[in-house]
Amino acid sequence: MSLVTGLDILSVARKGKYGVGAFNTNDMEITQAILEAAEEAHSPVIVSLSEGAIKYGGDALIDMVIHEAKQATVPVAVHLDHGSSYESCMRCIRAGFTSVMIDKSHEDEETNTREVKRVVEAAHAVGVSVEAEIGRLGGIEEHVVVTEDQVSLTEPSEAKRFIDNTDADFLAIAIGTSHGANKGKGRPFIHHDRIKEIAVVVPQPLVMHGASGVPQDIVARLIAAGGKIEGAVGIHEDDVRKAVTEGIAKINTDTDLRLTFTAVVREILMNTPEQFDPRKILGPARTEMKRIVAERIDVFGSANKA
Ligand code: G3H
Ligand code: 13P
Ligand code: ZN
Repeated sequence: MSLVTGLDILSVARKGKYGVGAFNTNDMEITQAILEAAEEAHSPVIVSLSEGAIKYGGDALIDMVIHEAKQATVPVAVHLDHGSSYESCMRCIRAGFTSVMIDKSHEDEETNTREVKRVVEAAHAVGVSVEAEIGRLGGIEEHVVVTEDQVSLTEPSEAKRFIDNTDADFLAIAIGTSHGANKGKGRPFIHHDRIKEIAVVVPQPLVMHGASGVPQDIVARLIAAGGKIEGAVGIHEDDVRKAVTEGIAKINTDTDLRLTFTAVVREILMNTPEQFDPRKILGPARTEMKRIVAERIDVFGSANKA
């Protein structure tokens, strides 16, 4: 089973009207939490590394993730998240990634199209899938900060033109989500009509970035253990369940795992001040992140699709 391309996983998901989680990793514990949960649920999964993750973990992280993905008993794609340049994508392809995102969504359409085409030509020549983005989500990523007034929903006609002109394999769209733990006040409004309109003209799998649910019990535990976080709000799981029936096939989740990791580590450090064995601190964090991944897989509907 093991290492497959992003498109192998996502084309089946789009047709089957379910979503597949693309979970961000930065270390061994997160990677194992993702893969173990996927294996137990018999679910395909995408393991994503951002440029920030790669800078943090270097080749050691890349090699570990690819090694673990190859050993997995379910289909796994190893994906570059929000690649900022052609060079960054090529480095990942050379290292063995099976999927890359080239994100030029903050540029004008002409530049975005030109840059994506370049990556697509090189990636397709070696059988690697490419994700591109059109429209602008809110929130913070490694190399771009998008404020509320800069957010713009993806237009169906521009999405179609862009995918036709670039030949990208899957398309990230802006439909009301945003990156990070503060996705709005109350329940963030997801533009389901827009997803459906885009899905009519773009048959490729669609991608929802900024899809974390920001579980309020985890936020409460983080705060109770001394963490400071205000107005943390995520995407309602009913919106995700609905979106996967409308054309969304790849669902990105990072914040939920970050919150969970930090809540558990804080609890252990607070409740057992005598503890200094890293395994007794990181191990329980891994277990809890695995539980969160399993819950997400259930919401996405990808269990037993491996
Ligand atoms: O969308 C961005 C991901 O959450 C990765 O974040 O660039 O801080 O690793 P990062
Ligand atoms: P969240 O911040 O909602 O987890 O989104 C992560 C993401 O989109 C990674 O590309
Ligand atoms: Zn993202």
